[in-house]
Amino acid sequence: MSGPAATQFLTLHEIVVAARANLAPGPWGYLIGGTETETTVRRNRLALDSIAFRPRVLRDVSAVDSTATFLGRAVRLPVILAPVGGMESFVAEGAAAAARAAAQFGIPQMLSSVCHPGLEATAAAADTLRVFQLYVRGDEAWVDDWARRARAHGFSAFCFTVDSAFYSRRERDLIGRYVKPWRADAAAGVKYQAALSWDQVKRFKDRHDLPVILKGIATAEDAEIAVRHGVEVIYVSNHGGRQLDHGLGSAAVLPEIVAAAGGHAEVWVDGGFMRGSDVVKAIALGARCVGLGRLACLGLAAAGVAGLVRALELMEEEIRTCLGLLGVTTLAELTPAHVAAAPPVFEPAALSAFPLLGEDLGATRPA
Ligand SMILES: Cc1cc2nc3c(=O)[nH]c(=O)nc-3n(C[C@H](O)[C@H](O)[C@H](O)COP(=O)(O)O)c2cc1C
Repeated sequence: MSGPAATQFLTLHEIVVAARANLAPGPWGYLIGGTETETTVRRNRLALDSIAFRPRVLRDVSAVDSTATFLGRAVRLPVILAPVGGMESFVAEGAAAAARAAAQFGIPQMLSSVCHPGLEATAAAADTLRVFQLYVRGDEAWVDDWARRARAHGFSAFCFTVDSAFYSRRERDLIGRYVKPWRADAAAGVKYQAALSWDQVKRFKDRHDLPVILKGIATAEDAEIAVRHGVEVIYVSNHGGRQLDHGLGSAAVLPEIVAAAGGHAEVWVDGGFMRGSDVVKAIALGARCVGLGRLACLGLAAAGVAGLVRALELMEEEIRTCLGLLGVTTLAELTPAHVAAAPPVFEPAALSAFPLLGEDLGATRPA
């Protein structure tokens, strides 16, 4: 589909359908799948679907503002494009297309170290707010070199993904014999990632003055240790259910981590966020920013840069509608009193946020 036609998408559902039509089974399974039984994938959705809203009324919501700040800079929504390795499996220009969409729409991008066209070319592709995510595949000098390059190319923070000591068993990929083109590079030096410890976090903080993000924190205990190390951002994530199976849903652990951070570090979150209302729930529970992984890739696969921009426009419309109907005019007014625990209505699945899709695309019927 050419760029302008992307404006014809009136719902996020249609974007998912277009992405499915454009992707071969291998990349589709790689994108949608998770680890082993995919219980963590489902729990991400279950956790979000187990939160209901408590709306307030008669509060003049004629002007709603859904803008936010990201590491002190103004952004259009409280969301970031989560780091995705092998994005070139979904759109030919890979991370460069994501950078252009982020710049065009006005949100930040987090670039994965295992994504083409690489750090320098992605930075050159668009002038956008960007942060860098590293999988550690070398010694301290190797890490320092990435930090130097990131700083030199305008990345404003440095992220270590800490939920990936081992690469997990993604059974959709294994059964489909899908060989990810970039895995050979990514697999070299994995022992360095497995050996990571808090000592390396301390060393990095002592040596570099880039803000540090730890992505993959899933307990209050680790959030407390992160705060003690002066980490600027605690990024609650289970890698979209693609690493440890049988974890809790991200939205379920968010409150304990916000409490543990105690305002000393920003808390970001991802895992199953597909709708504007999902983002609003996270902000109400104390997150500052929400990462979009699969949704961003679905937008790119549907119609390239224009497809992702359209997905973000639709999400923005959903967020603004949700805020107005909750009786607030800014994200800052959201509090935990705007949400409550509730039984989920849908059986959770990777795409259960789109119940009109039909079961063949991974949506499920009401329970
Ligand atoms: C295809 C794909 C590749 C990913 N690659 C990376 C990566 O290179 N680094 C990383 O930290 N997380 C990676 N993730 C995890 C995402 O950053 C994010 O945590 C996750 O996708 C959030 O869940 P969601 O897809 O349900 O939004 C990847 C996710 C997907 C779907």
